[in-house]
Amino acid sequence: MEVIVRKTTGDAVNLTAQLIADAICAKPRFNLGLATGGTMEAVYARIAALNAEKKVSFAKVTTFNLDEYIGLPPEDVNSYRYYMNFHLFDHVDINKKNTHLPDGMAKDEEAEGIRYEKAIKKAGGLDLQLLGIGHDGHIGFNEPMSSLTGRTRSKCLTPNTLEVNGKYFNPPESMPKRAFTMGVGTILDARSIIMLITGASKADIAAQALEGPLCSMVTGSAVQLHRNAVVILDEAAAAKLTLKDYYNFIWENEPKWDKYRHF
Ligand code: GLP
Repeated sequence: MEVIVRKTTGDAVNLTAQLIADAICAKPRFNLGLATGGTMEAVYARIAALNAEKKVSFAKVTTFNLDEYIGLPPEDVNSYRYYMNFHLFDHVDINKKNTHLPDGMAKDEEAEGIRYEKAIKKAGGLDLQLLGIGHDGHIGFNEPMSSLTGRTRSKCLTPNTLEVNGKYFNPPESMPKRAFTMGVGTILDARSIIMLITGASKADIAAQALEGPLCSMVTGSAVQLHRNAVVILDEAAAAKLTLKDYYNFIWENEPKWDKYRHF
């Protein structure tokens, strides 16, 4: 795991977008795992701009999202399908047939998890999984105590998540209490991971996930297990990291970051 701290949220976001674009340019037939949430909105705006500037093409990219609310149809403004169309897919040269999310309306939940896992496998596995982190440390919707080897399945959300994400719903109580999510095991199978954490409100959970013990109470800590994971933070989110000087030293001295130092 490598940790990169950038001064501003904008720099952290732009670096994230650039690393994704560069990975796609290096392998155009790319399987990209995507995340939702407020943090990712700026990343998708930047990726859409890079696409408009013809610096990256999604023509051969296939995407798989981490999660979807149970009970919301794709046209619901709060579904993650709607979010993805709105923030990314409607603005890039991707074939929507190649964009996948769990089906929030699936009748047989167990079968839906199995179908989604099979679809990822059939596509050849994920080249890169983009991750945010929830205030309770969740990745996807792997709430505290989710198995660190879990696969795609339905999960009951925590009251904390209902409170944090409820702000997007009107009324907040209409937010679904359950969701489909890739498991931590599914996420760790991706060939690479980029996690983006921004904002002062994430400083505590960032320190727990990155420098605390590996544990299912903070499923984001599972990034510590991955052999090819990069975690990008802004200064605010990195405020409670103890090894920040070391992370900065690596950033300044690792040749592979040479071309990114302007971020
Ligand atoms: C949701 C998503 C997560 C995301 C989290 C953080 O719960 N399921 O994948 O990481 O939100 O969201 P935000 O960026 O809004 O803090």
